Amino acid sequence: MTGDEPDAVIAVVGSYNHDMSVTVPDLPVPGETVMGEGFVQNAGGKGSNQAIAAARDDGEVAFIGAVGDDRFGESARELWAEEDIDDSGVLSVDAPTGAALIHIEESGENAIAVAPGANHELDGASVREKRAAIEGADVLVTQLETPIESVQAAATVGEAAGTEVVLDPAPAQELPDELVAAVDVATPNESEVRVLAGHAPDADIEEEEAARTVLDRGPEAVVVTLGADGALVVTDDQTVAVPPIETEVVDTTGAGDAFNGAFAVARGDGTDLIAAAERGVAAGAAACAERGAVPSLPSRSTIDSYLDD
Ligand code: RIB
Repeated sequence: MTGDEPDAVIAVVGSYNHDMSVTVPDLPVPGETVMGEGFVQNAGGKGSNQAIAAARDDGEVAFIGAVGDDRFGESARELWAEEDIDDSGVLSVDAPTGAALIHIEESGENAIAVAPGANHELDGASVREKRAAIEGADVLVTQLETPIESVQAAATVGEAAGTEVVLDPAPAQELPDELVAAVDVATPNESEVRVLAGHAPDADIEEEEAARTVLDRGPEAVVVTLGADGALVVTDDQTVAVPPIETEVVDTTGAGDAFNGAFAVARGDGTDLIAAAERGVAAGAAACAERGAVPSLPSRSTIDSYLDD
């Protein structure tokens, strides 16, 4: 599916981080110091990245989160204004804006450590206070970089309002049944789907089998993002492999966020799961072609061009 003007209203509840990245020949092992190059600072955080990805895909986006009353928080607000994102649901709190330290291997793979700071001040009550944005949205997208109580509050409000609830369960952690049951579509990667199904991230179990265990907990669909292998859409009735789109991989940071933003806009626009996952895969491929999370998040026309190739 390529996109005419979408009509998707998206609410995103999640994190904002100030990303600091360095490229290294190989990711360091414990105790090792490696010499890298190309120190870069960018806006990041899975929540904000997904909000920007949806906005660049022409979704109408409101973001709910928390930043510090500091210069990183200020630049985040400037960025959301530039991207036409409604940030009236973002709290300014008495804690430093979240930060992420990212190592990018020359292969494009990364390892990320996050200091959540202000993100951890987003509680359930604050999300419920901003519930109008979720109730008025076609799709809610949320992740796990803010406290579980904020994710649970968002999902509960979304479920009650009939808003489609999309959960990107990253970073992976075990989740309460009540939360998983409120989710319509989960979008884990290969290791996250195993954790969501109650296994170790590297357990010897097929993604489809793990996804089916997750379906038993309530969601209507599990869309497993497979990086260079595309995605797997699993529902009660079917399993469909969405093929990858080849691209030169420079940096995978933000590829999952690009997937979720484009997937949410497509769903909000009434697109079926498979075609929405295809748009997500195209957006994820586009995001790998450039360094940094936010700089690499594609516009709607870029996503279309990846699908046309
Ligand atoms: O998904 C990529 C993001 O994960 C980065 O921007 C970093 O901030 C971490 O949250």
